[in-house]
Amino acid sequence: MNTIEISLTKPSEINALQKISKETFIEAFSNQNSEENMKKYLEENLSINQLTNEFMNSESLFYFAKMDDKIIGYLKVNFGKTQTDFKEDDSIEIERVYVLSEFHGKNVGKKLLDKAIEISREKNAKSVWLGVWEKNYKAIRFYQKNGFLEFGKHPFILGDDIQTDILMKLQL
Ligand SMILES: CC(C)(COP(=O)(O)OP(=O)(O)OC[C@H]1O[C@@H](n2cnc3c(N)ncnc32)[C@H](O)[C@@H]1OP(=O)(O)O)[C@@H](O)C(=O)NCCC(=O)NCCS
Repeated sequence: MNTIEISLTKPSEINALQKISKETFIEAFSNQNSEENMKKYLEENLSINQLTNEFMNSESLFYFAKMDDKIIGYLKVNFGKTQTDFKEDDSIEIERVYVLSEFHGKNVGKKLLDKAIEISREKNAKSVWLGVWEKNYKAIRFYQKNGFLEFGKHPFILGDDIQTDILMKLQL
């Protein structure tokens, strides 16, 4: 059986980070959003410049999921004031968890989630929270199955579209 490895993204892997970020975002959302809004999001949020800035931020961590050295998913977590909301010292945000569709249902997302929980415990956080698009039913079910509970909503900007994210939290 192929093993899935979770490893901290290295500075030399920024191009690979952009590739997996764009690929998974397009796979996940292009059929429910306009081409213009997708293009704008990819250009503004997933440019090499933007990703490098995020990567250099000491309050964010990126991890890859690899199978036989192929990058098949990734995770981004934020701490402290880098969290996109709340910014409490005793919480951690999962800003992104994405797996290539070909590998869905093979426990890759769960391994990335477990890594986020491991980091949260190491940092003595009391909770892990995230925002998920209200129309992303698959991901909502995935989080529910893994113990996350809904506790609010906040806006998410995709291009020119202001969408609603459901906020979910796992108490540690
Ligand atoms: C959401 C996502 C990360 C889940 O990853 P995954 O690798 O497919 O999920 P896993 O195989 O690790 O599933 C882990 C557990 O959740 C369950 N699960 C996964 N998807 C599920 C779903 N849609 N409905 C119900 N349960 C689900 C699995 O059955 C498994 O349960 P088990 O441990 O009892 O067997 C993945 O589908 C994905 O990348 N989606 C597109 C991007 C996205 O929407 N990201 C989230 C943005 S907020």
